[in-house]
Amino acid sequence: MDQIRKNTIALYGKHGKEWLERLPAIRAAIAKKYQLSALNPVSNMSFNYVCSGMQNEKPIMLKLGFDQQAFSKEADCLQAFEQYGSAKLIATEPGMIIMQKLDPGMTLKSYFPQKDDQALTILCKTILQLHKAQIPKHHHFVPLKKILSILDQDLDIPQKLLDSARALRDDLLLSTKKEVLLHGDLHHENLLQHGNDWKVIDPKGFIGDPLFDLCAFIHNPIPELLQQTNPVALIQKRIEVCSHELQAPQQRIQDWLYVKSVLGWAWCLDDNMAPDYFKDCVRLLEKIRKKADEY
Ligand SMILES: Nc1ncnc2c1ncn2[C@@H]1O[C@H](COP(=O)(O)OP(=O)(O)O)[C@@H](O)[C@H]1O
Ligand SMILES: [Mg+2]
Repeated sequence: MDQIRKNTIALYGKHGKEWLERLPAIRAAIAKKYQLSALNPVSNMSFNYVCSGMQNEKPIMLKLGFDQQAFSKEADCLQAFEQYGSAKLIATEPGMIIMQKLDPGMTLKSYFPQKDDQALTILCKTILQLHKAQIPKHHHFVPLKKILSILDQDLDIPQKLLDSARALRDDLLLSTKKEVLLHGDLHHENLLQHGNDWKVIDPKGFIGDPLFDLCAFIHNPIPELLQQTNPVALIQKRIEVCSHELQAPQQRIQDWLYVKSVLGWAWCLDDNMAPDYFKDCVRLLEKIRKKADEY
């Protein structure tokens, strides 16, 4: 609860604080309306209030959050992905989602770092399946072009790095051949085991190049990835495996990763969060780029 308190106040200030105060009452009203019982908060909350529980005899997850627009996208996206590997949406209201509880619900973080190869296979298989979803005719998902326009702002990021990210972004957007409905945040803790299968939760709903969806995984888990003895080798290995599994050029995955890392940096600045992790990521990726230039 401390983490969500900290994040909600950093992001939404006074209004966030008010929402946190109202949270017990919101939870009680939703529980009554939807006949939810045995509500029990998860231990790894970060931005939203998430708890497991029962709806009559059925195990469910309840998610509550301040950002109603984000919840509306998440609910629409869960619906669009339902046949393609996401948790099933049961009910939604502004700032509220009730969904199927995944069982056992262990996240892909449990594979890090020992079973990184298996985790990559799961990631790529999941992505190939998810990206078969149709983009609904009428939707409010956000194109990557718009998401990435934040890089045109005056940001407290060294000019050289920002210029590189802008140039790569422009090339990547121009050369995108096929656009799909993207999960948008497919890191370890948003990929959960369900029976013998793996399913996704917490989609953001962007539209664009399928390779963008590899990036959140490749620079996660935060901060453990960068605490490994050789994170550069690990990142390069991940790029190689993903390139092979998705039949996509390594360079393109690496370029997206660079752009996504600078985007992470920009988002932190925008959200009043410390950008150190993404700064370090960009530094590492600069190393990989320089190494390639030496050959
Ligand atoms: N449908 C679900 N089944 C089982 N566990 C879930 C489910 N949804 C969320 N969780 C657990 O709660 C955590 C946080 O949920 P998530 O929707 O990712 O919140 P946030 O938007 O704050 O990241 C997940 O990492 C997972 O451990
Ligand atoms: Mg999440």
